[in-house]
Amino acid sequence: MQESLQHYRLLVVQRNWHGSFVGRTKELAWLRDRLAGPANDHPLLLIQGEAGIGKTRLIQETLRRFCSSWIILQGTCQEVERKHPYHAIVEALRRGLAGEDLARLNLPGVWLEQIAQLIPDRLQFVETWLAPGLIEPTILADALVSLLNQLARPQRSLLLVLDDLQWADKATLSLLGHLVRYVHQGSVFLLGAFRNDIIELLASGQRIVSTWVTGATCGAKEILSSQSSGYL
Ligand SMILES: Nc1ncnc2c1ncn2[C@@H]1O[C@H](COP(=O)(O)OP(=O)(O)O)[C@@H](O)[C@H]1O
Ligand SMILES: [Mg+2]
Repeated sequence: MQESLQHYRLLVVQRNWHGSFVGRTKELAWLRDRLAGPANDHPLLLIQGEAGIGKTRLIQETLRRFCSSWIILQGTCQEVERKHPYHAIVEALRRGLAGEDLARLNLPGVWLEQIAQLIPDRLQFVETWLAPGLIEPTILADALVSLLNQLARPQRSLLLVLDDLQWADKATLSLLGHLVRYVHQGSVFLLGAFRNDIIELLASGQRIVSTWVTGATCGAKEILSSQSSGYL
């Protein structure tokens, strides 16, 4: 009986992969208020929930409903690539900035050089003598704050989405902590999702995450549960 129930659950999940979105009214309202409503003074929004509960789908639905005219930079942390610093940030910048003219930005050369270490193919106009991959985390963090702040407009907010943060490398988590403090409030947002059922959750990074979450001024967190979804 238990086994057939599990099969049924799996079929429902597969059928819904591209299917209609169900429930999550409370969670969508929570996200809408913080991205496009009266509570938009938290740059960092976190969604926590076990694997398969609907974090990624909730993010997709949020982007579709509330952020259709926004600049979206979206990356997913990968377990196998945990040792590659900034993997998800690179993915987010490379894909999200494909249509942007980065040469127009007013960034000092030393900052452009650091961003070019992450996405050299997108900043070919930058002359650099740095060895490939040589990243100075504090300079890179300042460079990315400035990049995101300059890209965002009052009428065109920017959202950096990082999914599966439980697999983020330490460099990415520290960078995120810096972005949270210095990006323009109300026009640059950081949306992250992570699992809470993985014991190896960020042996050291977990402390960084909980610091953001408990930081009254910078974090906000929604915990997904199957009871509140009206789904599954
Ligand atoms: N509210 C929902 N309505 C319909 N399908 C959903 C909903 N939430 C999740 N799903 C589906 O369930 C599956 C797992 O969701 P997903 O967002 O990938 O979970 P997670 O990111 O938490 O691991 C996907 O097929 C997704 O499309
Ligand atoms: Mg997911």
